[in-house]
Amino acid sequence: MNPSKYDALKRIRDELLAFSHSPLYEYRTANGYLPVVGEGSHDATIMFVGEAPGQNEAKTGRPFCGAAGTFLTELIEGIGLKREQVYITNIVKDRPPENRDPTPEEIALYSPFLDRQVKIIKPRVIATLGRHSMGYVMRRYDLDLELEPISRIHGKSFETTFIDENNEPQPLTVVALYHPASALYNGGMRGTHKQDFEILKKFV
Ligand code: URA
Repeated sequence: MNPSKYDALKRIRDELLAFSHSPLYEYRTANGYLPVVGEGSHDATIMFVGEAPGQNEAKTGRPFCGAAGTFLTELIEGIGLKREQVYITNIVKDRPPENRDPTPEEIALYSPFLDRQVKIIKPRVIATLGRHSMGYVMRRYDLDLELEPISRIHGKSFETTFIDENNEPQPLTVVALYHPASALYNGGMRGTHKQDFEILKKFV
């Protein structure tokens, strides 16, 4: 474990625990929920970014630990990786009530934590899960002009850079993926997910 990465990620956890000006803070504390910072390898090549925690995640403090998470783990293992070898997080770190989509204000409030996680972990690839994550990540990393509906660009990769802590640009590939929960409502989507994940194999 890299101590400086560990400390920087722990700082994010501590800030999130005390994030009382978030509109989601009261809902978190009233329900005994936890913020979901992220988990996995601090040296991961691939970072998966979902939208926001659901109930299982908010109860345990772990990302993607419900039914969508079980399918995500299967997809990761399908490309020859263990879940512990990647890093998994969300844009919004607290559960929105009733699993509603995160609002633009919530995304604006929480996304600086994700930006910091990218600088700390320095992934080679960010794989976005769902259209909210795709929209945020592609705009944030100067891929606005490539943005299209997810039905057109799922399974595609885009080359860009992120600025590291020394102000140096580092190569970054963004891969747009459907949210794994979509296969829970529509079993026919499982094959599409598996096919889309193939693009990640070259980074394994
Ligand atoms: N859906 C998400 O977007 N993130 C999670 O952590 C769980 C479900």
